[in-house]
Amino acid sequence: MASLVGAYAASHGPLLVREWNAVPADQQRRLTAAYREIGNRLSAAKADVLIVVTPDHWANFSLDHVPSVCIGVGETNEGPPEPWMKDFPHRELPGHAEFAGHLVQTALREGFEPSVSHRLKLDHGVCIPLWRMELARLPCIVPMIVNSIEPPFPTVRRCLEWGSVLSKAVKTYGAPLRVAILGSGGLSHSIGEKTMGAIDEKLDQECIRLFSGKAEKLLSHLEKKLPTAGNGTEEIRNWLVAHGAAGGRGFELVDYLPVPTVIVGCGFAAWKVTPAGSRRAAPARRGTSARRRRIA
Ligand SMILES: [Fe+2]
Repeated sequence: MASLVGAYAASHGPLLVREWNAVPADQQRRLTAAYREIGNRLSAAKADVLIVVTPDHWANFSLDHVPSVCIGVGETNEGPPEPWMKDFPHRELPGHAEFAGHLVQTALREGFEPSVSHRLKLDHGVCIPLWRMELARLPCIVPMIVNSIEPPFPTVRRCLEWGSVLSKAVKTYGAPLRVAILGSGGLSHSIGEKTMGAIDEKLDQECIRLFSGKAEKLLSHLEKKLPTAGNGTEEIRNWLVAHGAAGGRGFELVDYLPVPTVIVGCGFAAWKVTPAGSRRAAPARRGTSARRRRIA
C-alpha cells in the first residue's frame, strides 16, 4: 500500500523569476528560506511521487476547452514553455503513469470525472516551486490541473473533496509508493484587471487562520470573499486540495509575506500527515486512517 508522506502549499508567480532581482533583500531571504523549507521537508519525506495541484496558465488549454480538473497520466511531461523559465533545469519531467491512472480510476469510482492528458506542459505554476525548493532529486510529478483561471470554477467545497479522493487513491494503491502533494498558487493577487497588483493581506491572514479551524468556516469564508477578491486568489483552491488530502487538519504556516514587487501575497504551508513507516507503526496508522475516513 502506498502512503501519503507529505502535504504542502506554496505560492508562485512569474515575477518571482522575472523581477527577482528587484525584490528587497530581506524579502528575497524569506522567500528563499520558505521554498527551501518546503523542499527540505519534501526531501526528508523521501517522496517517490509528488502530485502538484496547479492551475494551467494557458500553456495547455484555451477557451476552446477549459477542463475543471485534468490529471496528467503520461510517462513524462514537458518542462515550462515560458521563455523566462528557460533556465529551469528540466525540459522533461518524469510522471508516474500507473499511479496517475489509479488516481483517475479512484476518482471515477468516487463520483468525480476528471479530464486526463497523456502529455502536459508544466508551466511556472508547477516549475517555480520545484525550482525554488532546490531539490537534489526530483520525484515523479503527477500534475493535477485545477481550473482557477477561467470561470466557471470548481467550487471550493469540491476542491476540498478532491483532497479526500487523492488521499483515498494513495491508500488503495497496491505498491509501496511514497506520495506527497503540493498545492501551488495563491494567496491573494490580481492579474490583468482593474485591481492589478493588489494584495489583500487581511484576506490572506484570515484564510491562514481559518485553515487551522473547521473546514466549514473556511469554505463559507472563501465562498463569500473569492468573488470580489483579486482573480489570482482563486488559486487557493489548490491549497484546499492539499488540505483535504491531509484530512482537513494539521495545517502549519511556514511563512507568509506580501511581496508588492511580485504582486503576490506569498504563502507557504505544510500539513502534518500520517507518517509512512514500518510494520511497527501499523496500529497507529490504522487508527489515524479510520479517523480520516470519518472526515472524508
Ligand atoms: Fe498562477
